[in-house]
Amino acid sequence: MVKSNALTLARRPRRNRRSAAIRHLTQETRVEIDDLIQPLFVREGRGAPEPVKSMPGVFRFSVSDLVRECRDIHNLGISAVAIFPCISPKFKDERGSYALSPDNLLFRALAAVKKEVPALLIIADVALDPYTSHGHDGLVDPQGDISNDETVNVLAKLAVLEAGAGADWVAPSDMMDGRVGAIRKALDRAGRIETGILAYSAKFASSYYAPFRDAVGSSKSAGTSALDKRTYQLNSANTREALLEARLDEEEGADVLMVKPAGPYLDVIHQLRSQTQLPIAAYQVSGEYAQIHAAAQKGWLELEGARDESLLAIRRAGADMILTYFAKDVAANLRKKN
Ligand code: PBG
Repeated sequence: MVKSNALTLARRPRRNRRSAAIRHLTQETRVEIDDLIQPLFVREGRGAPEPVKSMPGVFRFSVSDLVRECRDIHNLGISAVAIFPCISPKFKDERGSYALSPDNLLFRALAAVKKEVPALLIIADVALDPYTSHGHDGLVDPQGDISNDETVNVLAKLAVLEAGAGADWVAPSDMMDGRVGAIRKALDRAGRIETGILAYSAKFASSYYAPFRDAVGSSKSAGTSALDKRTYQLNSANTREALLEARLDEEEGADVLMVKPAGPYLDVIHQLRSQTQLPIAAYQVSGEYAQIHAAAQKGWLELEGARDESLLAIRRAGADMILTYFAKDVAANLRKKN
């Protein structure tokens, strides 16, 4: 019915927002279970899962509970998990030697999950921070610098051991120069041509990692959650430098490029989308998760709404897959809806 005072408008964009049916049909971007990767923490010993205080709903699991959790996650339809070890302080030293020990907790966890839930894709970080007493991702030289080439050498060995234990993708998160190429070469030489490299290509020196450092215990050993990693992680102000890092990782043989954190760097994801044909991953990190939970606990934000919007934004920016601590909850919700 045309009302007498109706405007004559050729375009009424609100028509496409009138009903749920139209909104579904016109929706441009979606977050689907297939896009999600669940990060998980594993610790020594048996005992009940230990809650991570700064990350509500996140736990450090024993190996057997980790396997159970992975089975649940797989049953929800999630394709991949990223497993991080919380190493007991008595195994940490300056050089992170335990990283290459055959009894490394991470290798046991990878093997157990691969055996029990073989179809679940497993991602293992390649960096030394869970193992070093100072909490840095690399080896510290006598001048106090993080020694690039020596670190890369150790990381290449770690990646081969992770692949041997059951990791489908290894994920260098250290930001050393040349590590992707060195890891590719080492994997190939060890006959692991099928192991993929998910490169943390644009990993920024961010304040948003603090809860993660609590979860893996690297802040405890370093004495701070604000460890200064600015000589290797990217300057938050720099987009071109991030794109350069991504280009180098691609040239060195990375299979997937990652931007991290995600929410504060949507512009980087977006620009990388037009630079590369490779899949792009984004890591919604611990601090992004913690801030949504903290505000929701105070009653200042609605948890599910803020969560879903934060993930949609990352997809809209151009990420194909998202590592997020919300993965399991979102998958459970999506299942209920369908
Ligand atoms: C360490 C690593 C970090 C994260 C993943 N791998 C922290 C850091 O660089 O200090 C952060 C993940 C998160 O905050 O959720 N190599």
